[in-house]
Amino acid sequence: MAASLLRTKNDPSEMLPKTGENCLYLGASIGGTVSHIHDCICGSGNHHKGHILAVDISPRMMRDLVQLCDKRPGIVPLLADARSITELSPFINKKVDWFHQDLSVADQAKTFVKISEKFLKSGGVGLLSLKGASERVSEGDIKKRFENAEKILKDSRLRIIERIDLRGLEEHHILFNCRME
Ligand SMILES: C[S@@+](CC[C@H](N)C(=O)[O-])C[C@H]1O[C@@H](n2cnc3c(N)ncnc32)[C@H](O)[C@@H]1O
Repeated sequence: MAASLLRTKNDPSEMLPKTGENCLYLGASIGGTVSHIHDCICGSGNHHKGHILAVDISPRMMRDLVQLCDKRPGIVPLLADARSITELSPFINKKVDWFHQDLSVADQAKTFVKISEKFLKSGGVGLLSLKGASERVSEGDIKKRFENAEKILKDSRLRIIERIDLRGLEEHHILFNCRME
């Protein structure tokens, strides 16, 4: 996320959520990036009344994330499989303004499209951090894996604003900055 803010050719602030917005973060890990998103949308003590649902599948990561959430009201931790609409649905009662997916698991673009089409509001910002190494080797080399992912995005209701190649900052990583139609 930080690398893409440095690398974008557009106004980086357009990729960040606004104060008070409702956000979904898949692949929260121990909350490194989530804590910065919290600074943007909540402020100290959550005086802006923002909300971030921070999802991770790893109990180990969740242990630390829960401690961060205690200190930062506005972040809600969820131990769940981010690919499952059934597991996420009970915790998302209205569509979100901003969505970031950073999952180290195959089928990242398919998951991103499925979750965006279900939970991201029209005009909402969707950011996909795509890791070439997390896709299946059987899909081909890294370039081919990125092409496959881009095609999945292009065939969806998302519009790609920018494809940000993070080479030199994060190897084999691309961030797709998208908007829901
Ligand atoms: C690259 S790390 C995320 C780093 C984090 N976004 C940050 O910037 O600090 C990827 C995370 O995805 C999580 N993950 C992998 N598969 C997942 C799944 N199916 N559902 C939820 N989280 C998953 C891993 O546990 C890991 O914490």
